[in-house]
Amino acid sequence: MRIFISIIVASILFVNQSNAQEKISPESIQAKMQWFQEAKLGIFIHWGIYAVKGVDESWSFYNNLIPYKEYMSQLNGFTASKYNPAEWADLVQQSGAKYAVMTTKHHDGVALWNTKEDHYNVVRNTPAKKDLLKPFFDELRKRQLKVGTYFSLIDWSRNDYDQFRKDSVRYKLKDQPARWDHFKKFFQSQINEISELYNPDLFWFDGDWEHNADEWESIKVRSNILAKNPNAIINGRLAGYGDYVTPEQNIPVSKPAYNWWELCMTINNNWGFQFRDTNWKKPNEIITLFADVVGNGGNLLLDIGPKEDGTIPEEQKNVLNELGKWNKKHNRAIFGTIAGIPKGHFYGPTTLSKDSSSLYLFLQAQTSGPIMIKGLVNKIKEIKVVGKEVNLNHKVVGKISWSPVPGLVFIDVPVGQVDPYMTVLELKLEGPVKLYAGHGGFN
Ligand code: GLC
Repeated sequence: MRIFISIIVASILFVNQSNAQEKISPESIQAKMQWFQEAKLGIFIHWGIYAVKGVDESWSFYNNLIPYKEYMSQLNGFTASKYNPAEWADLVQQSGAKYAVMTTKHHDGVALWNTKEDHYNVVRNTPAKKDLLKPFFDELRKRQLKVGTYFSLIDWSRNDYDQFRKDSVRYKLKDQPARWDHFKKFFQSQINEISELYNPDLFWFDGDWEHNADEWESIKVRSNILAKNPNAIINGRLAGYGDYVTPEQNIPVSKPAYNWWELCMTINNNWGFQFRDTNWKKPNEIITLFADVVGNGGNLLLDIGPKEDGTIPEEQKNVLNELGKWNKKHNRAIFGTIAGIPKGHFYGPTTLSKDSSSLYLFLQAQTSGPIMIKGLVNKIKEIKVVGKEVNLNHKVVGKISWSPVPGLVFIDVPVGQVDPYMTVLELKLEGPVKLYAGHGGFN
């Protein structure tokens, strides 16, 4: 929330800044963003020592909910003993997601790889004793899935980082510039290590709100990444130098203004695993919001939080599996589509085929009986229930022969055709979709 507004504002600026910097043509950005735009669904994974006691990732000590020492004692309990990266990758793939983003280091500073830097990492400092990133990224790539690395710019465990807990600051940058330089060198080296070791398709930064672009040296961070991989995509949390917008937990009601966007969202209330958090979102709720995001031209980055031993809670698996089954059934209405028609024509999410000649309507769970579309100028060639491939009839009501204003389209959806989560109708139109959005009457 704290960053939602600033991200939206920053997003208007950032692409201009970064493009001017790199002299990228609109066509080459489009080419680089293509897979992302088509992905629609990614799986976010927050895994770290915070899963041992099941406390807020990093924030629990920052907000003084638990002493720092006790928080860090979780290092001793982080085993990854049942970690099965192939199973994780299978789960991601079965959900229908086209990419996964995994925490490489959260604000607590604990790296999930064997960083060369003199700082906490799971290989040196936990019983897990191994690089947890590589095997998973390898499994993703085997399945042609894209690899994303979450990296926190903030590192509250570093003595050369200025912030620590919400009520304690270590130093002021202007008083100790050399100390800040030391930190910059450190975090940028870690990013370079990630580039070298894993060559991610997507860099997912977090925590930029604690400093500005000059302090982070966003331009340098961005250009180092692109020097290694010009096709790497960077999320919108590099203080103005990312490629797309990242609203967090807050579902946009209207279509975000920027070309590419991604809603990141938890399955319960928290990013990491927490024993006490049982507020699971239901498959129906996730599917409804997923359709809404895709209808608005965005991606959903849906988070799971594995336990310290690497097992994924059943409730999370269940949501991903149900979402996967639904995606499979409705594949063509989601993947390979573009954002739908403007609001007001149909009461629910919509998407369009790339040539705009098929319109997909997403019906709220259990909706049957007549549904209605307003202002559709095109003739409808055919209506199908997606996944069942049953044809439906329609009726045009209120079309006046001498008026160009289209009538209302009513489609009767039989109870027997209804999907338990969301039914999708495909309207094959004569030509690309054409809409009437006027005030009625004579003009
Ligand atoms: C936030 C939080 C963090 C979480 C992230 C995911 O900004 O600081 O705990 O990892 O969002 O988007």
